Amino acid sequence: MKPIVIVHGGAGDIPDSRVKGKLDGMKVAVRAGYECLMNGGSALDAVEAAVVPMEKDENFNAGYGSVLNLRGEVEMEASIMRGSDLNVGAVTLVKEFLHPISIAHKVLIKSPHSLLGGEGAKLFALKEGFPPVPPESLISEHAKQALKNFLEHGDFGRTEIGSSDEGGVGTVGAVAVDANGHVAVATSTGGMSGKAVGRIGDTPQIGSGTYADDNIGGVSTTGHGESILKYCLAHSIIKLMEGGLDANTATTKAVNGMTARLNNTAGAITLSKDGEVGVHFSSKRMSWAYVKDNKIFYGIEQGETLEEDYNKN
Ligand code: GLY
Repeated sequence: MKPIVIVHGGAGDIPDSRVKGKLDGMKVAVRAGYECLMNGGSALDAVEAAVVPMEKDENFNAGYGSVLNLRGEVEMEASIMRGSDLNVGAVTLVKEFLHPISIAHKVLIKSPHSLLGGEGAKLFALKEGFPPVPPESLISEHAKQALKNFLEHGDFGRTEIGSSDEGGVGTVGAVAVDANGHVAVATSTGGMSGKAVGRIGDTPQIGSGTYADDNIGGVSTTGHGESILKYCLAHSIIKLMEGGLDANTATTKAVNGMTARLNNTAGAITLSKDGEVGVHFSSKRMSWAYVKDNKIFYGIEQGETLEEDYNKN
């Protein structure tokens, strides 16, 4: 099996001012995941490796740069799934750590539980040696502005979806198939701007934000969390593939089906177990990238596929 990794940097009404930062960040993320696979890393390690740089990059709504709740705080969520045994790890309501995806990975490996939240997630992370950071250090100027815009205009949900100049940021995710044919998926988010304190979205919920099965493939989703979780979007795509649809047709059908039924937008990236790619979004934009045949394929606009040599630079 030729290893492959695909990443997304969030679906939404991303403003022009955020396009370049998103595309640059996509290339950094997909390279990190691909290098891991090329060095013999597992799909599980590769999806974490791809998500970590996006959690550090304020162009994305995850880790540093996460959007803020109504109290002006960051509350992050992440999940990771291994397709060989359907094992999962997820965290929610995380406030004091830069890399929720790494904590989720540790939950998968070390905890008897699948999803830890709030104080419990913090205690687990501290016990596992993750360094806490001051919660204020995760807050970017963009996130502050996005909350201000939300409070002024009251257009709920738009700042993850992002129609303002400052709000165009989104959830991040990665899907990989490694040389042994194992599938893994990781998704990480700050949620939506102006969310209630304690609101939990789709990202940490397995079957909504994330799903991986070595017998079928893997999916990471982004977009309007309440709609994604009602539709179990990631698992809907997996079931369509199990029924015989190819990765791209399944992704398109489920994302459009969710939007038709619930009148909100989303996007998803998908790999079949054979490394076939699916990318679709019903929002205006979604940044994505994958590596194949020594080329990076990437895009952000509807219908756009750009490419560059992997060895450029
Ligand atoms: N899809 C991210 C969220 O709504 O929380």
